[in-house]
Amino acid sequence: MSELTRFGVSLEKDLLDKFDDHIKKQSYETRSKAISDLIKENVESNILDSTGTLAGAVTFLYSHHNKDLVSKLLEVQHETHDLIISMQHIHLDHDTCLEILAVRGESSKVRALYYKIKPLKGVKIASISATSIS
Ligand code: NI
Repeated sequence: MSELTRFGVSLEKDLLDKFDDHIKKQSYETRSKAISDLIKENVESNILDSTGTLAGAVTFLYSHHNKDLVSKLLEVQHETHDLIISMQHIHLDHDTCLEILAVRGESSKVRALYYKIKPLKGVKIASISATSIS
């Protein structure tokens, strides 16, 4: 095991409270272990490091009232149309849209698509679930 390092994190209190509840349900005894596992999952994820062809889904929530965001999301999807097998748009409620993109393509291109969507301001949450198919 490599040397342990301490670092500080600033979070909204509500988020930290939710995180504490969440990890308590999973029987974590310390935040450090839970955060370490989260980082491992993120950094060491097969999806992030895999090569070859990936197939799966990119899922995200956003408010359709943000016209700039809607425009950017459309632009990204048209730029990467060759990766998107199909797309489902669900009007969750008055404000919120859920989109699920079924994707297939070269792993770095699929990751690039995900990383174009995830950081956009107004995307409430984004996730990718994909597996290597070659
Ligand atoms: Ni909608």
